[in-house]
Amino acid sequence: MFYEHNDDDFHEILPGIRVKTLVYGEKTLMAEFRMQPGAHFTRHSHPHEQSGYLVSGAMRLVQGDRVFEVQPGDSWCIPPNVEHFAESLEESVMVQQFSPLREDYLAYYQKRTGNPMDEQSKIDPRYVGLDNAAHEGKLSREEIKKRFDHETALVYRRQPDPAWLPDFWQMTRLIPELLRSRLPKDALILDIGAGTGNLSRVIMEALPDVKMVLMDFSEDMLSEVPNVLTDFPGRYVTDIHDFLDADFGISKYAGAVSSLAIHHCRGEAEYSRIYDRLYKALQPGGIFICCDVVAGADDLLTQLNEDGWRSNLKEQQFSDTDIERVLSNYHVEDSPLVVCQSSILG
Ligand SMILES: C[S@@+](CC[C@H](N)C(=O)[O-])C[C@H]1O[C@@H](n2cnc3c(N)ncnc32)[C@H](O)[C@@H]1O
Repeated sequence: MFYEHNDDDFHEILPGIRVKTLVYGEKTLMAEFRMQPGAHFTRHSHPHEQSGYLVSGAMRLVQGDRVFEVQPGDSWCIPPNVEHFAESLEESVMVQQFSPLREDYLAYYQKRTGNPMDEQSKIDPRYVGLDNAAHEGKLSREEIKKRFDHETALVYRRQPDPAWLPDFWQMTRLIPELLRSRLPKDALILDIGAGTGNLSRVIMEALPDVKMVLMDFSEDMLSEVPNVLTDFPGRYVTDIHDFLDADFGISKYAGAVSSLAIHHCRGEAEYSRIYDRLYKALQPGGIFICCDVVAGADDLLTQLNEDGWRSNLKEQQFSDTDIERVLSNYHVEDSPLVVCQSSILG
């Protein structure tokens, strides 16, 4: 693979930090980072070995308990699972290489080039599920389960970037950062509607001592989990249950998380059923983080939200037909609440 330099197509991953995945092979992936003065990564770790080279600017790099003032021409190598972070002291450019390949960075590559990547080429990256346009009313729970069972599991595994969900990885990566400061290192965390394990993977990569319980009612989605969590044997269990009926236990978890699953609840009563049991399942001081769609507080906000989603899909070159399909699936499948509709939390 050869990539000729150009300045386009950087992707903002954190405020003031833009990245472009340059090239990748079987075992390594190289990315260029452009950082504004003061921009910083939060402390994190991952199972990838990471070596880097500062091309220009100045940076402070913290690796474990060692601090390095990095000047142009300096280089570093961070072993797997070692906590690190960096702060840019001037406008800086660095190049870093990861091994094994980081899937989130592969997804940036795919987004940039539109090029299929090995196995993923066998699946249309624009796939968004059944065409539900003609469906009357909302899908039932049974129909949703069927959809995830028969249609979606393989797509979720093979397609590292669910491109129809804007900024999926950016959203997901915020969660371990929120958990890190609030939970004991060896916390047990429940992932509700865990699917194929996307969110659990990001959490276990960033927090090497936590353990996860992945709950989902779709056996097919959960059956992909061992393929997604190959790097974390012994650190997770799966639990096939409907989260509306499951017994979450009492004071069992230090934390609970969920991404893009709880919106399948219908109405406040169902949301309450989950939140009540979750409250009891958390240990004192426990935390629940849910990243999901919310409904607009009025028609105007709802419209603005959907218009924003449409233009995001358009920017990614989704066809008009696929854009309408994403939105019609959303209408028949999901029932988000307005974010301030918080009487259920009382
Ligand atoms: C859009 S996927 C998200 C999966 C994963 N959290 C992620 O972000 O990649 C939604 C998941 O919620 C699960 N789900 C929906 N309703 C559920 C319910 N009542 N009980 C358990 N799982 C449910 C589906 O089977 C599916 O795996």
